[in-house]
Amino acid sequence: MAHGRETVGIAMNGVTGRMGYRQHLLRSILAVREQGGLALPDGRTVWPEPVLVGRDAEKISALAARHGLERWTTSLDEALADPSVAVYFDAQVTPARVPALTKAIEAGKHIYTEKPTAETLEEAIGLARLADAAGIKHGVVQDKLFLPGLLKLKRLVDSGFFGRILSVRGEFGYWVFEGDWQPAQRPSWNYRAEDGGGIILDMFPHWRYVLDHVIAPVRSVYAEARTDIPTRWDEQGREYRATADDAAYAIFELEGGVVASLNSSWTTRVNREELVEFQIDGTHGSAVAGLRTCKAQHRTATPKPVWNPDIPATEDFLAQWQEVPDNAVLDNGFKVQWEMFLAHLVADGPYHHDLWAGARGVQLAELGVQSWREGRKIAVPELGPARA
Ligand SMILES: NC(=O)c1ccc[n+]([C@@H]2O[C@H](COP(=O)([O-])OP(=O)(O)OC[C@H]3O[C@@H](n4cnc5c(N)ncnc54)[C@H](O)[C@@H]3O)[C@@H](O)[C@H]2O)c1
Repeated sequence: MAHGRETVGIAMNGVTGRMGYRQHLLRSILAVREQGGLALPDGRTVWPEPVLVGRDAEKISALAARHGLERWTTSLDEALADPSVAVYFDAQVTPARVPALTKAIEAGKHIYTEKPTAETLEEAIGLARLADAAGIKHGVVQDKLFLPGLLKLKRLVDSGFFGRILSVRGEFGYWVFEGDWQPAQRPSWNYRAEDGGGIILDMFPHWRYVLDHVIAPVRSVYAEARTDIPTRWDEQGREYRATADDAAYAIFELEGGVVASLNSSWTTRVNREELVEFQIDGTHGSAVAGLRTCKAQHRTATPKPVWNPDIPATEDFLAQWQEVPDNAVLDNGFKVQWEMFLAHLVADGPYHHDLWAGARGVQLAELGVQSWREGRKIAVPELGPARA
């Protein structure tokens, strides 16, 4: 059994942002340090050593100080030239990603990055090829796969609970305030196409890996989208034109004929238990999963409603579902995936959530936009590293 501590230097860029700070720095990297590092099965411990990278020295140094971290810089080049930095992590705004990842790969760093990996499929494939040619390891955030609700849903799928899966319905969304009479709760760049915004580019990468991994590979897409709120107000209270789609309605066909219809909207009000919910219907059972919970209904417990608009509902349908238990300690999804990636890095374990998987997400977003523009269903071709 090996012993000792393997320190992994990680240049973390975009950690003043919503995702970079809360999920990646606080809930993942600092949480791993608080638990004493990541224990590997071979007896070694991985110790992540962050170097915070940002554009604003005042903000980034204050952030480092707040968490007792000594290393920070405003120069990405300096961080990438540091031989003690093994990994480059990116949670910047989407358009800043390709240039930064390219630089990091060229500097020989391993890559861990937020999605979408790029704004176009061509660039996303370019990154995956570059990373493979450089022989570095690469990972892309696919956090929803590690959410308790989806882990339980996947458990049901793997158990054969559903029989033949027929369809999937997903609802994601909430009202994002316009920014005038109440400040918006998402960054303004999300609503400007020219700055990497748009709900299709934001959410379809998630839908791709959720469908591919939990149910079956996506084979086609038909999407319809809207810019429902054309004027919004930014972080400084300035009015701006919202040029990006803020609601998207899509139908995906999956391998085996399963139909998945997923709505994504920042212009809807929540009448659900969670901000995202997926329902799978199968011949032998159905289930509904949110971020944390999952409820199931077996064919043997299925009620037999009779359509009669003349009387009030005779049954409490929502009460007829059974809670799927955790049966395990389910940690923060972002942290779980960071730990998988670090173990892959140090101990060479298998890892599938790479820049090719990231490119498949961008592919679905790009084809989704094309489908909407052209008003037709589009096939999703297989995508992966070219085989020799
Ligand atoms: N995995 C998920 O569930 C999830 C959720 C939300 C966002 N994201 C992704 O994470 C990335 C960051 O999103 P966010 O919501 O944290 O955004 P944010 O606006 O809160 O943060 C953006 C970060 O990028 C930095 N930045 C670098 N260059 C910039 C520039 N030119 N203009 C503005 N900021 C710049 C900012 O300083 C900040 O640290 C996006 O690519 C987004 O797609 C992923």
